[in-house]
Amino acid sequence: MFKTTSFSFLLPTKIEFGEGAVNLLPEKLKEALPSSNNSACRILVVTDNGIEKQLWFSAIVDMLETAGYGIEIYSKVTANPKDSEVMAIAALFHDFQAGMVVAVGGGSAIDAAKAAVLTAGLGGEPALFQDRDQVDSLLSKARENKSASIIPPLIAVPTTAGTGSEVTFSSVITDTTRNTKFTIKTPAIAPALAIIDPQLTHTLPPALTAATGMDALTHAIEAYTSQASEPISDACALHAAGLLSRRLPTAVKDGKDSRARSAVMSGSLLAGLAFSHADVGAVHCIAEALGGLYDIPHGAANSVCLPEVMEFNLARGESADLSIADRYAALSAAMSTDESEEPKNSALSAINRVRWLSAEVGLPDFSSFAVPPEDIPLIAERAASNGSNENNIPVYTKQDYTQILEKLFETGKK
Ligand SMILES: [Fe+2]
Repeated sequence: MFKTTSFSFLLPTKIEFGEGAVNLLPEKLKEALPSSNNSACRILVVTDNGIEKQLWFSAIVDMLETAGYGIEIYSKVTANPKDSEVMAIAALFHDFQAGMVVAVGGGSAIDAAKAAVLTAGLGGEPALFQDRDQVDSLLSKARENKSASIIPPLIAVPTTAGTGSEVTFSSVITDTTRNTKFTIKTPAIAPALAIIDPQLTHTLPPALTAATGMDALTHAIEAYTSQASEPISDACALHAAGLLSRRLPTAVKDGKDSRARSAVMSGSLLAGLAFSHADVGAVHCIAEALGGLYDIPHGAANSVCLPEVMEFNLARGESADLSIADRYAALSAAMSTDESEEPKNSALSAINRVRWLSAEVGLPDFSSFAVPPEDIPLIAERAASNGSNENNIPVYTKQDYTQILEKLFETGKK
Protein backbone atom coordinates (compact mmCIF):
# COMPACT_ATOMS: atom_id res chain seq x y z
CA MET A 1 0.00 0.00 0.00
CA PHE A 2 2.77 2.45 0.88
CA LYS A 3 4.35 3.99 -2.20
CA THR A 4 8.01 4.86 -1.92
CA THR A 5 8.56 8.30 -3.27
CA SER A 6 10.34 11.59 -2.81
CA PHE A 7 8.24 14.73 -2.96
CA SER A 8 7.95 18.41 -2.17
CA PHE A 9 4.79 20.04 -0.86
CA LEU A 10 4.13 23.73 -1.35
CA LEU A 11 1.11 25.61 0.01
CA PRO A 12 1.42 29.35 -0.73
CA THR A 13 -2.23 30.02 0.22
CA LYS A 14 -3.24 31.14 3.70
CA ILE A 15 -6.53 29.43 4.56
CA GLU A 16 -9.26 30.94 6.75
CA PHE A 17 -12.04 28.40 7.19
CA GLY A 18 -15.25 28.65 9.19
CA GLU A 19 -18.86 29.74 9.37
CA GLY A 20 -18.97 33.51 9.04
CA ALA A 21 -15.34 33.69 7.88
CA VAL A 22 -16.36 35.98 5.03
CA ASN A 23 -17.09 38.74 7.56
CA LEU A 24 -13.38 38.79 8.35
CA LEU A 25 -12.51 39.62 4.74
CA PRO A 26 -11.46 43.28 5.16
CA GLU A 27 -9.33 42.49 8.22
CA LYS A 28 -7.78 39.37 6.69
CA LEU A 29 -6.97 41.25 3.48
CA LYS A 30 -4.85 43.65 5.48
CA GLU A 31 -3.15 40.85 7.45
CA ALA A 32 -2.41 38.76 4.40
CA LEU A 33 -1.37 41.64 2.20
CA PRO A 34 0.45 44.19 4.34
CA SER A 35 1.69 46.07 1.28
CA SER A 36 -1.95 46.71 0.33
CA ASN A 37 -2.85 47.92 3.80
CA ASN A 38 -4.16 51.31 2.82
CA SER A 39 -7.60 52.68 2.20
CA ALA A 40 -6.72 53.75 -1.33
CA CYS A 41 -6.26 50.16 -2.48
CA ARG A 42 -8.58 49.32 -5.36
CA ILE A 43 -10.03 45.87 -5.73
CA LEU A 44 -11.38 44.16 -8.82
CA VAL A 45 -14.06 41.65 -7.76
CA VAL A 46 -14.54 38.78 -10.23
CA THR A 47 -17.77 36.79 -10.14
CA ASP A 48 -20.69 35.58 -12.29
CA ASN A 49 -24.03 37.23 -12.90
CA GLY A 50 -25.97 34.76 -10.72
CA ILE A 51 -23.85 35.55 -7.67
CA GLU A 52 -23.92 39.27 -8.39
CA LYS A 53 -27.69 39.20 -7.71
CA GLN A 54 -27.35 37.58 -4.29
CA LEU A 55 -27.93 39.77 -1.25
CA TRP A 56 -24.89 38.34 0.52
CA PHE A 57 -22.72 39.37 -2.44
CA SER A 58 -23.92 42.98 -2.08
CA ALA A 59 -23.11 42.71 1.63
CA ILE A 60 -19.53 41.64 0.81
CA VAL A 61 -19.09 44.59 -1.57
CA ASP A 62 -20.57 47.00 1.02
CA MET A 63 -18.24 45.62 3.67
CA LEU A 64 -15.18 46.20 1.48
CA GLU A 65 -16.32 49.71 0.52
CA THR A 66 -16.97 50.57 4.16
CA ALA A 67 -13.43 49.41 4.93
CA GLY A 68 -12.20 51.99 2.43
CA TYR A 69 -11.49 49.86 -0.62
CA GLY A 70 -12.42 51.11 -4.09
CA ILE A 71 -14.41 48.43 -5.88
CA GLU A 72 -14.96 47.48 -9.53
CA ILE A 73 -16.92 44.35 -10.44
CA TYR A 74 -16.55 41.97 -13.39
CA SER A 75 -19.56 39.62 -13.34
CA LYS A 76 -19.53 37.99 -16.76
CA VAL A 77 -17.65 34.78 -15.99
CA THR A 78 -19.47 31.74 -17.43
CA ALA A 79 -19.28 27.98 -16.79
CA ASN A 80 -16.14 26.55 -18.42
CA PRO A 81 -14.56 30.05 -18.34
CA LYS A 82 -13.38 31.41 -21.67
CA ASP A 83 -10.10 32.97 -22.79
CA SER A 84 -12.07 36.07 -23.91
CA GLU A 85 -13.35 36.53 -20.33
CA VAL A 86 -9.81 36.25 -18.97
CA MET A 87 -8.64 38.95 -21.39
CA ALA A 88 -11.55 41.21 -20.39
CA ILE A 89 -10.76 40.81 -16.67
CA ALA A 90 -7.06 41.58 -17.23
CA ALA A 91 -7.97 44.69 -19.27
CA LEU A 92 -10.40 45.88 -16.59
CA PHE A 93 -7.76 45.30 -13.92
CA HIS A 94 -5.43 47.74 -15.70
CA ASP A 95 -8.20 50.24 -16.63
CA PHE A 96 -9.36 50.42 -13.01
CA GLN A 97 -5.75 50.54 -11.78
CA ALA A 98 -6.61 47.80 -9.31
CA GLY A 99 -4.15 46.57 -6.72
CA MET A 100 -5.63 43.13 -6.18
CA VAL A 101 -8.32 40.73 -7.35
CA VAL A 102 -10.97 39.12 -5.14
CA ALA A 103 -12.70 36.18 -6.85
CA VAL A 104 -16.11 35.35 -5.37
CA GLY A 105 -17.70 32.27 -6.89
CA GLY A 106 -17.26 28.68 -7.91
CA GLY A 107 -14.32 27.20 -9.77
CA SER A 108 -15.14 29.13 -12.94
CA ALA A 109 -14.82 32.58 -11.34
CA ILE A 110 -11.70 31.59 -9.40
CA ASP A 111 -10.06 29.91 -12.42
CA ALA A 112 -10.82 32.93 -14.63
CA ALA A 113 -9.33 35.25 -11.98
CA LYS A 114 -6.20 33.08 -11.66
CA ALA A 115 -5.57 33.18 -15.41
CA ALA A 116 -6.37 36.90 -15.42
CA VAL A 117 -3.83 37.89 -12.75
CA LEU A 118 -1.13 36.07 -14.73
CA THR A 119 -2.26 37.76 -17.95
CA ALA A 120 -2.45 41.16 -16.24
CA GLY A 121 1.02 40.69 -14.77
CA LEU A 122 2.86 39.24 -17.76
CA GLY A 123 0.85 40.49 -20.75
CA GLY A 124 -0.03 38.39 -23.80
CA GLU A 125 -2.84 35.89 -24.20
CA PRO A 126 -3.82 33.26 -21.62
CA ALA A 127 -3.10 30.33 -23.96
CA LEU A 128 0.57 31.35 -23.89
CA PHE A 129 0.75 30.29 -20.24
CA GLN A 130 -0.15 26.63 -20.75
CA ASP A 131 3.57 26.20 -21.41
CA ARG A 132 5.02 26.06 -17.88
CA ASP A 133 8.57 26.76 -19.11
CA GLN A 134 7.31 29.87 -20.89
CA VAL A 135 5.66 31.09 -17.66
CA ASP A 136 8.84 30.48 -15.63
CA SER A 137 10.94 32.30 -18.21
CA LEU A 138 8.56 35.29 -18.38
CA LEU A 139 8.36 35.45 -14.58
CA SER A 140 12.14 35.47 -14.15
CA LYS A 141 12.55 38.12 -16.86
CA ALA A 142 9.86 40.28 -15.23
CA ARG A 143 11.48 39.89 -11.81
CA GLU A 144 14.82 41.02 -13.21
CA ASN A 145 13.20 44.25 -14.37
CA LYS A 146 11.05 45.04 -11.34
CA SER A 147 11.44 44.62 -7.61
CA ALA A 148 7.72 44.85 -6.90
CA SER A 149 5.40 41.86 -7.07
CA ILE A 150 4.82 40.92 -10.70
CA ILE A 151 1.57 39.02 -10.36
CA PRO A 152 -1.29 40.93 -8.69
CA PRO A 153 -2.40 39.32 -5.40
CA LEU A 154 -5.49 37.15 -5.63
CA ILE A 155 -7.96 36.37 -2.85
CA ALA A 156 -10.42 33.53 -3.37
CA VAL A 157 -13.84 33.29 -1.73
CA PRO A 158 -15.37 30.00 -2.94
CA THR A 159 -19.16 29.77 -3.05
CA THR A 160 -19.36 26.13 -4.12
CA ALA A 161 -17.77 23.08 -2.51
CA GLY A 162 -16.15 21.21 -5.35
CA THR A 163 -13.28 22.53 -7.39
CA GLY A 164 -10.78 23.28 -4.62
CA SER A 165 -9.59 26.04 -6.94
CA GLU A 166 -9.05 28.29 -3.92
CA VAL A 167 -5.87 26.32 -3.07
CA THR A 168 -4.73 24.77 -6.36
CA PHE A 169 -2.01 25.98 -8.72
CA SER A 170 -4.07 25.37 -11.83
CA SER A 171 -6.64 27.15 -13.95
CA VAL A 172 -8.60 25.43 -16.73
CA ILE A 173 -9.66 27.79 -19.51
CA THR A 174 -11.63 27.24 -22.73
CA ASP A 175 -9.89 28.23 -25.95
CA THR A 176 -12.85 29.70 -27.85
CA THR A 177 -11.10 29.48 -31.19
CA ARG A 178 -10.53 25.71 -31.02
CA ASN A 179 -13.35 24.76 -28.60
CA THR A 180 -10.84 23.01 -26.44
CA LYS A 181 -9.60 23.46 -22.89
CA PHE A 182 -6.11 24.23 -21.74
CA THR A 183 -4.58 24.21 -18.28
CA ILE A 184 -2.30 26.83 -16.79
CA LYS A 185 -0.34 25.28 -13.93
CA THR A 186 2.05 27.32 -11.82
CA PRO A 187 2.27 28.22 -8.11
CA ALA A 188 2.37 31.86 -9.29
CA ILE A 189 -1.44 31.80 -9.64
CA ALA A 190 -2.20 30.24 -6.26
CA PRO A 191 -4.39 32.64 -4.25
CA ALA A 192 -2.54 34.45 -1.45
CA LEU A 193 -5.57 34.00 0.78
CA ALA A 194 -8.62 31.72 0.68
CA ILE A 195 -11.62 32.73 2.78
CA ILE A 196 -13.69 29.54 2.97
CA ASP A 197 -17.09 30.08 4.55
CA PRO A 198 -19.49 27.10 4.34
CA GLN A 199 -22.44 29.44 4.98
CA LEU A 200 -21.99 30.81 1.46
CA THR A 201 -23.04 27.39 0.12
CA HIS A 202 -26.33 27.23 2.06
CA THR A 203 -28.30 28.66 -0.88
CA LEU A 204 -26.58 26.51 -3.51
CA PRO A 205 -29.31 24.51 -5.35
CA PRO A 206 -29.35 20.71 -4.86
CA ALA A 207 -28.25 19.91 -8.44
CA LEU A 208 -25.23 22.20 -8.21
CA THR A 209 -24.38 20.91 -4.72
CA ALA A 210 -24.46 17.36 -6.12
CA ALA A 211 -22.39 18.06 -9.23
CA THR A 212 -19.71 20.10 -7.47
CA GLY A 213 -19.55 17.64 -4.57
CA MET A 214 -19.00 14.74 -6.97
CA ASP A 215 -16.28 16.78 -8.70
CA ALA A 216 -14.55 17.02 -5.32
CA LEU A 217 -14.94 13.28 -4.74
CA THR A 218 -13.42 12.69 -8.19
CA HIS A 219 -10.44 14.86 -7.20
CA ALA A 220 -9.94 12.76 -4.05
CA ILE A 221 -10.21 9.40 -5.83
CA GLU A 222 -8.04 10.39 -8.80
CA ALA A 223 -5.38 12.00 -6.57
CA TYR A 224 -5.24 8.90 -4.34
CA THR A 225 -4.73 6.62 -7.34
CA SER A 226 -2.38 8.91 -9.28
CA GLN A 227 1.12 7.98 -10.31
CA ALA A 228 2.19 11.27 -8.66
CA SER A 229 0.53 10.56 -5.30
CA GLU A 230 2.57 11.04 -2.14
CA PRO A 231 1.92 10.72 1.62
CA ILE A 232 0.51 14.21 2.23
CA SER A 233 -1.79 14.13 -0.79
CA ASP A 234 -2.81 10.58 0.21
CA ALA A 235 -3.83 11.72 3.69
CA CYS A 236 -5.83 14.64 2.30
CA ALA A 237 -7.46 12.50 -0.39
CA LEU A 238 -8.56 9.67 1.94
CA HIS A 239 -10.07 12.01 4.52
CA ALA A 240 -11.75 14.04 1.76
CA ALA A 241 -13.30 10.88 0.25
CA GLY A 242 -14.74 9.95 3.65
CA LEU A 243 -16.20 13.40 4.37
CA LEU A 244 -17.71 13.76 0.91
CA SER A 245 -19.10 10.26 0.71
CA ARG A 246 -20.77 10.47 4.13
CA ARG A 247 -22.05 14.05 4.09
CA LEU A 248 -22.83 14.97 0.48
CA PRO A 249 -26.28 13.28 0.41
CA THR A 250 -27.38 15.32 3.45
CA ALA A 251 -26.00 18.58 2.00
CA VAL A 252 -27.99 17.90 -1.20
CA LYS A 253 -31.23 17.07 0.65
CA ASP A 254 -31.01 19.84 3.24
CA GLY A 255 -28.89 22.77 2.10
CA LYS A 256 -29.26 24.50 5.47
CA ASP A 257 -27.63 21.63 7.38
CA SER A 258 -24.54 23.47 8.51
CA ARG A 259 -22.67 20.35 9.71
CA ALA A 260 -23.10 18.69 6.31
CA ARG A 261 -22.19 21.88 4.43
CA SER A 262 -19.09 22.33 6.54
CA ALA A 263 -18.00 18.69 6.06
CA VAL A 264 -18.48 18.89 2.29
CA MET A 265 -16.58 22.19 2.11
CA SER A 266 -13.74 20.64 4.14
CA GLY A 267 -13.77 17.65 1.81
CA SER A 268 -13.56 19.89 -1.22
CA LEU A 269 -10.64 21.81 0.30
CA LEU A 270 -8.72 18.64 1.20
CA ALA A 271 -9.38 17.10 -2.21
CA GLY A 272 -8.10 20.33 -3.79
CA LEU A 273 -4.89 20.11 -1.78
CA ALA A 274 -4.53 16.46 -2.80
CA PHE A 275 -4.96 16.83 -6.55
CA SER A 276 -3.04 20.07 -6.70
CA HIS A 277 0.01 18.02 -5.76
CA ALA A 278 -0.86 14.56 -7.08
CA ASP A 279 -2.85 15.50 -10.21
CA VAL A 280 -6.13 14.08 -11.48
CA GLY A 281 -6.57 11.31 -14.04
CA ALA A 282 -8.62 9.83 -16.85
CA VAL A 283 -12.01 11.00 -15.55
CA HIS A 284 -10.89 14.60 -15.81
CA CYS A 285 -9.29 13.93 -19.21
CA ILE A 286 -12.73 12.94 -20.56
CA ALA A 287 -14.67 15.61 -18.61
CA GLU A 288 -12.41 18.39 -19.87
CA ALA A 289 -12.80 17.21 -23.47
CA LEU A 290 -16.61 17.20 -23.00
CA GLY A 291 -16.53 20.63 -21.36
CA GLY A 292 -14.44 22.15 -24.15
CA LEU A 293 -16.52 20.66 -26.97
CA TYR A 294 -20.08 20.91 -25.61
CA ASP A 295 -19.88 23.24 -22.58
CA ILE A 296 -21.06 20.36 -20.34
CA PRO A 297 -20.72 21.37 -16.66
CA HIS A 298 -17.51 19.97 -15.21
CA GLY A 299 -18.91 18.33 -12.08
CA ALA A 300 -21.73 16.54 -13.89
CA ALA A 301 -19.34 15.27 -16.57
CA ASN A 302 -16.96 13.92 -13.92
CA SER A 303 -19.59 12.18 -11.85
CA VAL A 304 -21.04 10.40 -14.86
CA CYS A 305 -17.65 9.15 -16.04
CA LEU A 306 -16.20 8.30 -12.61
CA PRO A 307 -17.56 4.78 -11.98
CA GLU A 308 -16.99 3.63 -15.58
CA VAL A 309 -13.37 4.83 -15.53
CA MET A 310 -12.85 3.23 -12.10
CA GLU A 311 -13.95 -0.10 -13.59
CA PHE A 312 -11.43 0.22 -16.41
CA ASN A 313 -8.70 1.29 -13.98
CA LEU A 314 -9.41 -1.66 -11.69
CA ALA A 315 -9.20 -4.11 -14.58
CA ARG A 316 -5.89 -2.78 -15.85
CA GLY A 317 -4.32 -0.55 -13.21
CA GLU A 318 -1.08 -1.78 -11.72
CA SER A 319 2.13 0.21 -11.64
CA ALA A 320 5.53 -0.73 -10.24
CA ASP A 321 4.65 0.51 -6.76
CA LEU A 322 0.92 1.15 -6.67
CA SER A 323 -1.96 -1.29 -6.97
CA ILE A 324 -5.30 0.20 -7.98
CA ALA A 325 -7.11 -2.71 -6.29
CA ASP A 326 -5.38 -1.92 -2.97
CA ARG A 327 -6.04 1.79 -3.30
CA TYR A 328 -9.72 1.33 -4.14
CA ALA A 329 -10.07 -1.00 -1.15
CA ALA A 330 -8.62 1.71 1.12
CA LEU A 331 -10.99 4.27 -0.42
CA SER A 332 -13.90 1.91 0.18
CA ALA A 333 -12.98 1.65 3.86
CA ALA A 334 -12.75 5.46 4.07
CA MET A 335 -16.10 5.99 2.32
CA SER A 336 -18.16 3.29 4.05
CA THR A 337 -20.82 4.09 6.56
CA ASP A 338 -21.83 2.00 9.53
CA GLU A 339 -25.18 1.25 7.86
CA SER A 340 -23.52 0.10 4.65
CA GLU A 341 -24.02 -3.56 3.85
CA GLU A 342 -21.12 -3.49 1.39
CA PRO A 343 -17.84 -5.03 2.49
CA LYS A 344 -15.75 -2.11 3.73
CA ASN A 345 -12.47 -3.01 2.14
CA SER A 346 -13.00 -4.34 -1.36
CA ALA A 347 -12.08 -2.49 -4.52
CA LEU A 348 -15.42 -3.28 -6.14
CA SER A 349 -17.34 -1.86 -3.19
CA ALA A 350 -15.60 1.51 -3.79
CA ILE A 351 -17.04 1.56 -7.31
CA ASN A 352 -20.46 0.50 -6.03
CA ARG A 353 -20.35 3.24 -3.41
CA VAL A 354 -19.63 5.86 -6.11
CA ARG A 355 -22.49 4.56 -8.27
CA TRP A 356 -24.83 4.64 -5.29
CA LEU A 357 -23.77 8.18 -4.40
CA SER A 358 -24.31 9.47 -7.96
CA ALA A 359 -27.84 8.03 -7.95
CA GLU A 360 -28.55 9.20 -4.39
CA VAL A 361 -27.68 12.83 -5.14
CA GLY A 362 -29.63 12.73 -8.42
CA LEU A 363 -27.00 13.24 -11.09
CA PRO A 364 -27.95 12.83 -14.76
CA ASP A 365 -26.81 9.94 -16.92
CA PHE A 366 -24.51 10.23 -19.90
CA SER A 367 -27.35 10.29 -22.47
CA SER A 368 -28.62 13.60 -21.04
CA PHE A 369 -25.50 15.34 -22.41
CA ALA A 370 -26.64 14.60 -26.00
CA VAL A 371 -23.06 14.03 -27.14
CA PRO A 372 -22.99 13.00 -30.84
CA PRO A 373 -21.68 9.39 -31.03
CA GLU A 374 -19.73 10.23 -34.19
CA ASP A 375 -17.54 12.49 -32.03
CA ILE A 376 -16.13 9.57 -30.01
CA PRO A 377 -12.78 9.59 -31.90
CA LEU A 378 -12.37 13.35 -31.34
CA ILE A 379 -13.20 13.12 -27.61
CA ALA A 380 -10.88 10.11 -27.24
CA GLU A 381 -8.04 11.92 -28.97
CA ARG A 382 -8.39 14.97 -26.73
CA ALA A 383 -8.62 12.85 -23.58
CA ALA A 384 -5.46 10.91 -24.52
CA SER A 385 -3.51 14.12 -25.14
CA ASN A 386 -4.56 15.70 -21.80
CA GLY A 387 -1.49 16.19 -19.57
CA SER A 388 -3.17 14.42 -16.62
CA ASN A 389 -3.42 11.19 -18.63
CA GLU A 390 0.24 10.59 -17.85
CA ASN A 391 -0.53 10.29 -14.14
CA ASN A 392 -3.45 7.90 -14.53
CA ILE A 393 -2.73 4.25 -13.76
CA PRO A 394 -2.74 2.95 -16.41
CA VAL A 395 -1.89 5.61 -18.99
CA TYR A 396 -4.59 5.22 -21.66
CA THR A 397 -4.28 5.38 -25.43
CA LYS A 398 -6.81 6.93 -27.77
CA GLN A 399 -8.11 3.39 -28.42
CA ASP A 400 -8.59 2.84 -24.67
CA TYR A 401 -10.55 6.08 -24.35
CA THR A 402 -12.65 5.03 -27.34
CA GLN A 403 -13.59 1.84 -25.45
CA ILE A 404 -14.44 3.78 -22.28
CA LEU A 405 -16.58 6.24 -24.24
CA GLU A 406 -18.38 3.42 -26.06
CA LYS A 407 -19.20 1.92 -22.67
CA LEU A 408 -20.50 5.31 -21.46
CA PHE A 409 -22.76 5.62 -24.52
CA GLU A 410 -23.99 2.06 -24.02
CA THR A 411 -24.67 2.59 -20.29
CA GLY A 412 -26.37 5.92 -20.99
CA LYS A 413 -28.96 4.26 -23.25
CA LYS A 414 -30.30 2.05 -20.45
FE1 LIG B 1 -12.46 18.82 -11.29
